[in-house]
Amino acid sequence: MRPEMSGQSGIRVAVAGFGRLASDVTRGLAAVGGMEIVGIARRQGDDDTIRVGETLVARYRDVGTMIRESRPDVLLEATLPEFAMEHSLAALASGVRPVVATSGVSDRDLEELQRACADRSLGGVVAPNLSVGAVVLMHLAAIAGRFFEHADIIEYHRDRKADAPSGTAVHTARLMQREREGSFTRVPSRTVTVPDVRGGEANGIGIHSIRLPGLVAHQEVIFGGTGQTLTLRHDAMSNDSYVPGAVIAIRHAMETTGLTVGLGTLLGLER
Ligand SMILES: NC(=O)c1ccc[n+]([C@@H]2O[C@H](COP(=O)([O-])OP(=O)(O)OC[C@H]3O[C@@H](n4cnc5c(N)ncnc54)[C@H](OP(=O)(O)O)[C@@H]3O)[C@@H](O)[C@H]2O)c1
Repeated sequence: MRPEMSGQSGIRVAVAGFGRLASDVTRGLAAVGGMEIVGIARRQGDDDTIRVGETLVARYRDVGTMIRESRPDVLLEATLPEFAMEHSLAALASGVRPVVATSGVSDRDLEELQRACADRSLGGVVAPNLSVGAVVLMHLAAIAGRFFEHADIIEYHRDRKADAPSGTAVHTARLMQREREGSFTRVPSRTVTVPDVRGGEANGIGIHSIRLPGLVAHQEVIFGGTGQTLTLRHDAMSNDSYVPGAVIAIRHAMETTGLTVGLGTLLGLER
């Protein structure tokens, strides 16, 4: 069957970036009722369209042109931290609501986005983790941390992930520390025969980063107490796991004004 050019109705979503995250999430969004993918911006390649399922979506070489020509309601920003602000501010200046999936947006940039959303009376979302399960795990870990003085986080990702530890692991440790009245305690080993074998440490919590082909995104938080352990674990089997969170974020950006930070806030888990 010959693919048709985009022409449905619903929330008009333009997508900045078409890498691992954006390509899978865009396919997922296109299959959700009430969303229409009206444009995709990526720099590399010569094609004027990109196939998303059975539909051909207009492809733009730069985000500014895409915003002007595709007339989206929402810009899903999934490029790199150094471009996220420029794209999001350009969207707001054109009356388009940004949903920033790109991770690594600084606190100062968050404040600027907050002001820009307020000035324009538009909604916007910054969600560095769109996985509902991962966000629920962080929330549960923060609660469990109140009752255990000892904890380790083990995060597992594909071997080519550039950074370690994952932003999710660091944020989990931060939330656990914030929720706990008192600090976590790490007992050092008297003898260490392999350097770094005990992993790193943040807020008194051990963090271990596993990098192997075949993994997607997985995290375990293990708590230790007198005569017992408690293990919380989340496994993302594919980037499809980001689609429900992206739908929630896009709808929220459409229905509210002002900037909302974190999927946990949208789910009522974080303040
Ligand atoms: N929120 C979440 O749950 C979540 C989950 C996974 C990843 N992330 C974050 O999302 C971001 C993207 O991750 P990824 O794994 O998809 O990375 P990736 O595979 O490297 O994709 C980045 C994409 O951005 C495009 N791009 C870069 N600069 C651009 C520009 N100025 N204009 C238009 N397109 C541009 C790149 O394509 P061209 O070079 O062809 O332009 C590429 O398609 C990262 O910040 C990552 O940490 C967030």
